[in-house]
Amino acid sequence: VTAEKGGFDHFMLKEIHEQPKAYRDTMLGRIDESGRKVVLPGLKLSDEKIRSLTSVHVIACGTAYNAGLVGGTAIEQLVRIPVMNDVASEYRYRSPLITPETLVIVVSQSGETADTLAALREAQANGAHVLAITNVVGSSIARDADDVIATLAGPEIAVASTKAYTSQLIAFYLLGLYMAQVRGTQSADDVAHVIAAMHSLPEQVESMLAQADTVKAYAEQIASHEHLFFIGRGLDYSVVQEGSLKLKEISYIHSEAYAAGELKHGTLALIEEGVPVIALATQETVLEKTVSNIKEVKARGADVMAITHEENVPDLLKSVDQALAIPKTLPLLTPALSVVPLQLLAYYAALARGNDVDKPRNLAKSVTVE
Ligand code: G6P
Repeated sequence: VTAEKGGFDHFMLKEIHEQPKAYRDTMLGRIDESGRKVVLPGLKLSDEKIRSLTSVHVIACGTAYNAGLVGGTAIEQLVRIPVMNDVASEYRYRSPLITPETLVIVVSQSGETADTLAALREAQANGAHVLAITNVVGSSIARDADDVIATLAGPEIAVASTKAYTSQLIAFYLLGLYMAQVRGTQSADDVAHVIAAMHSLPEQVESMLAQADTVKAYAEQIASHEHLFFIGRGLDYSVVQEGSLKLKEISYIHSEAYAAGELKHGTLALIEEGVPVIALATQETVLEKTVSNIKEVKARGADVMAITHEENVPDLLKSVDQALAIPKTLPLLTPALSVVPLQLLAYYAALARGNDVDKPRNLAKSVTVE
């Protein structure tokens, strides 16, 4: 059994460590020889169709939904087109405004999630072009979709999704760049710049994995708590939603991910002495704002751990209790790095609580019933 886990104690830890490879594999063959352009061989979505699109809907469940939050922002920023995210079980029943000019992107690791499949059918019935981002090319969703961008993460066994999520981010970045090339919303140099930064991600993930002990020590501190908060702004907010889900799924510690600026509208009431708050502060344009939110929770006794870039650590340490530095990449790509310590945090917290990490209670890897 240890052999199939590649020497790791759990599939989840093995899969966390497989992310650098998953990034490389998902990018393979999708960048042209010059290294400056995204190519998506086999894509049926024509240039003409891409030019005619007026909106994008990103639909999924669970972790795939969270990946879609980052992906939606990436498309909105790169392509400057309105993007709407929804969970499949809501979307399918609310008569969403779908037209033939809507691109519907469904995201699913397994390709078998019943609600996501039903949303896909609803979208097609309304004339939308449906593109699936999935890890299983022979799956029902891959079969029924009009287009597929396969994530090449390899089989994911642990119920808590890790490498599938990050590979989905890579697929979204590629798709966003591709659409931007067609619609001319980014210059060739800008596209090349993002691609170059994407090539560095695998090594950057490796360097973070080598420092897992810091996260482990922090996970052991939070393991005795029953409630904690994650805060962030912009893409950091999307990433903490995944961090919070991961923690709940396997450690059973209740946590809430909050848009940092929204705290004062409610959640601040729950912050009291000793409550752990994990602040993701990587998005430079809103860093100062996040710092002022950190001060709000500090003033109410929270125990704050910040995850940020090295250069911000000295300053942040004036207002937080602990800080963890992550490598620097473009703001848009940062989720592909910043989620890694959150995955490790969930893993080590679950371990410290003696939980069955790979098979959490009440959850299934793939939900093929409604
Ligand atoms: C289940 C799993 C989650 C997963 C979700 C969507 O609830 O436990 O980890 O994110 O389904 O699965 P999919 O295969 O569609 O990505």
